[in-house]
Amino acid sequence: MAKLLISGGKRLNGEVKVQGSKNSTLPILAATILCEDESVLFNCPKLTDVDATIRILRYLGCKASRSDSTLVVDTTDMTRSDIPHDLMREMRSSIIFLGVIIARCGKAKMSLPGGCELGPRPIDLHLSALRQMGIEINEEHGELECVAPSGIKPSKIALSFPSVGATENIMLTAVKANGTTIITNAAKEPEITDLADFLNSCGARISGAGESTIIIEGVQKLSGCSHSIIPDRIVAATLMSAAAITSSKITLDGVILSHLGAITPVFENCGCELSFKEGKLTLDAPYRLRSPKLIRTMPYPGFPTDAQAPVMAMTCKASGLTVFVENIFESRYKHVDELNRLGANIKVEGKIALVDGVRHLSGAKVRALDLRGAAALIVAGLSSQGHTEILGVRYLERGYDDFEVVLQSLGADIKKI
Ligand code: EPZ
Repeated sequence: MAKLLISGGKRLNGEVKVQGSKNSTLPILAATILCEDESVLFNCPKLTDVDATIRILRYLGCKASRSDSTLVVDTTDMTRSDIPHDLMREMRSSIIFLGVIIARCGKAKMSLPGGCELGPRPIDLHLSALRQMGIEINEEHGELECVAPSGIKPSKIALSFPSVGATENIMLTAVKANGTTIITNAAKEPEITDLADFLNSCGARISGAGESTIIIEGVQKLSGCSHSIIPDRIVAATLMSAAAITSSKITLDGVILSHLGAITPVFENCGCELSFKEGKLTLDAPYRLRSPKLIRTMPYPGFPTDAQAPVMAMTCKASGLTVFVENIFESRYKHVDELNRLGANIKVEGKIALVDGVRHLSGAKVRALDLRGAAALIVAGLSSQGHTEILGVRYLERGYDDFEVVLQSLGADIKKI
C-alpha cells in the first residue's frame, strides 16, 4: 500500500503546468462512443479514474491507447452495450456511459453505481430525464436495464437541481435524438462547456452550454475529432492552497482565469496577491493568512464543492475563524478528523464546519478517506512541523496526476513510498 511522506515547513517556489481536467476527460471519453470512428484527445491527465474509463471503453469493444497525455480512442468496432458490476463499482461516475450506449445501441445494461465516500450518490435526476426521452428503464436486483424502443424522443427537461452528471447524460443522449431537446436549470460548470465543444467539433448542434438553458438539436451522424481538454480548476485551487499555507510565491501555467471566478477572491481575502498574464496565474502569499471568514459551496459559478477540502486545509493556519457551509454533498467532511490530528481546530455541525485558525500544525500519521480529502491532508502536511505520513494514496491518484512530483518540482519535501 503506497503512502506519502512529507517533511513540512518548506517554502514552495517556481512554475508548474496544471493538468487537464479529470471531470472533463471522463464525459468526453464516454462521448467518443457517439462517433463511430477515431478521436484524439490532448492534455488528458494520467489518473486511475481515466484508466477505469478506458477499461470500460475496451470492454465495450472500443480501442483506446495513450501516449503521454494524448489519448487516441477508436469506437468503430464497439460490440457490447453492457457494463459489468466490477467495472461499474470501480467508479460511480461511470453512469455517464448510460446515455451514450443507449443512443448508439438502442439499449444498455449496467449495475446501479451505488454510493461512494461522499455519501449516497442518487441518479434519480438521470433516470427521470432518460425516461422522459422515451427510454424504458427497469431497475431490478441492483441492475439497470434500458431500451429505447422508438429511438430517443426530443424533450423539454427541467432539472430540479443543476446536476453536472445529469446535464451531461441528457446532452449525450439528446445529440442523436430525432428533434430538439431543451434542458432548463442545467449545470453550468466549465466541464459541461468543454463536453459541448467536443460534441460540436464532432458535428453535434448544441447551444447554450455554460448557461442555464441548453438546446441540443439532434443530428444523424457524428464523426471523431481532435480536442484539447481544459485545465483542471480543482487541481489549480489545490496548488494555490499549498502555496498559500506555506507562505510561498508560485506560478500556475495553463489556467483559465474565468473558471476560478469564485476561488481567486477567497485567496485575495486571505491576503494573497494574485496576478494573471498570458494564461499564467501567479500567487504570492503573505507570511500569515487572514481567515476568508465564510465559504459556502454552490453549483458553478459558486464556490466548487471539490475545492472545499484543500481550501479548508489552508484555512487551518489562517488567523481567525472560517465558516464552511457544504451545500452539495451530504458527507464531505471526512478530512476534518484527520486535519485535527495534525493540530487543526475544526468543529463540524451538520453541513457547517467551523475552522479556528491555529499558529502551528504538527506532523502525524493520517489517512485519506476520499479524493479531495487526500489533497487536503497534503496541503496541511506541507505546512506541519515535522513529518506527516499519509495513507490512502489510491484516493489521490484518482484525480491528481503525479501530484507529489509536481510538488517536488516546487521545492516540497514529499515522496511516495
Ligand atoms: C460531478 O459529480 C463531479 N464528478 C464531482 O466531482 C463534483 O463534486 C460534482 O459534479 C459537483 O460539482 C464528475 O464530474 C465525474 P452532481 P456528479 O450530479 O455529477 C445530487 C471530484 O471530486 N444528485 O452535480 O455526481 C447529488 O447527490 C468529484 O472530482 C441527486 O440528488 O455531481 C449531489 O448531492 C466528486 N440526484 C448533488 O446532486 C441525481 O440524479 C450534486 O451532484 C444526481 C445528483
